[in-house]
Amino acid sequence: MPDKGASVLMLGDVVGEAGLAALERLLPGLVDRYGADFVTANGENSSIFGMTEQDALRILAAGVDVITGGNHIWEKRTFWSFMDSESRVLRPANYPAPAAGRGFILIEKGRRRFLVINLQGREYMPPIDCPFRTFDAILLETRTAAERDGKAPPHFVLLDFHAESTREKEALGFYADGRASVLVGTHTHVQTADAKILPGGSAYISDLGMTGVLDGIIGMNKDICMKRASRQIAYPMRGAEGTGSVQGVCVRLTKTGKAVSIESFSVC
Ligand SMILES: [Fe+2]
Repeated sequence: MPDKGASVLMLGDVVGEAGLAALERLLPGLVDRYGADFVTANGENSSIFGMTEQDALRILAAGVDVITGGNHIWEKRTFWSFMDSESRVLRPANYPAPAAGRGFILIEKGRRRFLVINLQGREYMPPIDCPFRTFDAILLETRTAAERDGKAPPHFVLLDFHAESTREKEALGFYADGRASVLVGTHTHVQTADAKILPGGSAYISDLGMTGVLDGIIGMNKDICMKRASRQIAYPMRGAEGTGSVQGVCVRLTKTGKAVSIESFSVC
């Protein structure tokens, strides 16, 4: 068990160049302000849509420990081999095998072991493997490996659930309560006002929001989104232009991995 708990920042989807620039500009101040020990960010739309190696490296260089993904992580075929070689970039663990990359990682930082898990929902999304049973399997696998290697099990379990349905997000929240330290939702890019601590001690929010331009439509160009919605034609998408914000949560955890507080923020 570590000597002390941890302060964790989890950031909403980084959208386009404006999101990347906002992350680079604002993350150092957020780390200072919250005394953050560990940072995650969802990066699947940093290169609308999908990610490139160059943008993943920018996110890591900005101070993010682990990048999580989602349904758009597969958009750029050249990124697949990078996911195989860079373990700090995750894709949802419940994509059926064989799939490039990995869906969870255990990182030791300052005598503390952080397990980051990325899962994806199935309601109004592709019907991939079950996120609930995948969560169980990952916990079992990591605990069994720790026991085999004579190490402590992960102290802090951070879960990014990339999903459309709030109902499904809340269901996984209660399912993982007491076993995950934090469960955050991503994908909708709109921050929800339901940050809370569940009865078993897990911090929860249905959606972190995004790292991008708030004066747009989910971080994208308003005119294009309005045309796509009103005409039902898939005009090529572009990121919104302007100054980006960073949205997410800070969660303070005890040394046993239980949440003491969760605070959402939106800074620009
Ligand atoms: Fe997504």
